[in-house]
Amino acid sequence: LNKKIELDEVAKEIKKCPICIKDKIGKPVPGEGNPNAKIVFIGEAPGKEEAKTGRPFIGRSGKFFRSLLKEIGINEKEVFITSPVKYLPKRGTPNVSDILHGRTHLIKQLYVINPEIIVLMGNVAVRGVLEKSIPVYNKHGKVIDKEDKKYLITFHPAAALRFPKIRILFKEDFQKLKKMIGGI
Ligand code: URA
Repeated sequence: LNKKIELDEVAKEIKKCPICIKDKIGKPVPGEGNPNAKIVFIGEAPGKEEAKTGRPFIGRSGKFFRSLLKEIGINEKEVFITSPVKYLPKRGTPNVSDILHGRTHLIKQLYVINPEIIVLMGNVAVRGVLEKSIPVYNKHGKVIDKEDKKYLITFHPAAALRFPKIRILFKEDFQKLKKMIGGI
């Protein structure tokens, strides 16, 4: 079956999901991009702008993130951009059960896309994908090789926007990604 059709199916499941919608605000944000992407970027959860439109990373941190993609020569239409949590939680930051549930949808998406590189942006992304807690501040820039895939650990773009010191490290991680892409 065609990957686009399969991803649309997962997006439909997310839209109908009774667990996802509990204590959440606005539209679901399943993610967007190329179903045949070699790189998938994973964030945290939709923010207000995203919940209004149903599109990932279009608010302030999203604009910053997308501009950085361009800077390292990545066309945003060639990659896939998503998050473990598919709705904006009422409390703001997603809790462990939001992540544990959201990851069931995310894992299906990753299975369909089957990318070579997965960029984990922040603690929620790490927990949602690798099912463990890794302190991003100490481990950013690290690449984990697991079952034919490379997982690059970095910060969430919102943290990079907020703290100039993190912004420098985040940009270094993106330069590392640029080098990794040279090899795929
Ligand atoms: N932060 C995320 O993790 N995802 C978005 O879509 C927007 C902000």
